[in-house]
Amino acid sequence: MLCKRSIPFSWRKRDTVVISIILMIVILGCAIKQASMSPEETLLRSKCTSCHLLPEPAKFSKEKWRDILDAHKDRVRLDKNEREMLEGLK
Ligand code: HEC
Repeated sequence: MLCKRSIPFSWRKRDTVVISIILMIVILGCAIKQASMSPEETLLRSKCTSCHLLPEPAKFSKEKWRDILDAHKDRVRLDKNEREMLEGLK
């Protein structure tokens, strides 16, 4: 049959395997990137990027950074542990 000859089954099967492997590598790559982020960065990314870009603590003095966190009290709910983690970035 013409159809069978143009795309033999074994080829389709091989393509499926190749595509599956590529997908697995991509997914694994994302998982590794996520795992290699520090807990602080994960916290900043999850809590601090809904209203603006990722904040850069390095741009601010220690005092200013604390003021910013205080000013954000009503904007972001941080538990004691998270607050200490973010203060610790300075
Ligand atoms: C509900 C929205 C919202 C969330 C969530 C939020 N911010 Fe903000 N942030 C703002 C707004 C609005 C401003 C600009 C006004 C200001 O400076 O207070 C701002 C400004 C800033 C600035 C710049 C301040 C300056 O003086 O230049 C920093 C740094 C910052 N935010 C850090 C954070 C961090 C860290 C978090 C997570 C813990 C966070 N933001 C989460 C709304 C938010």
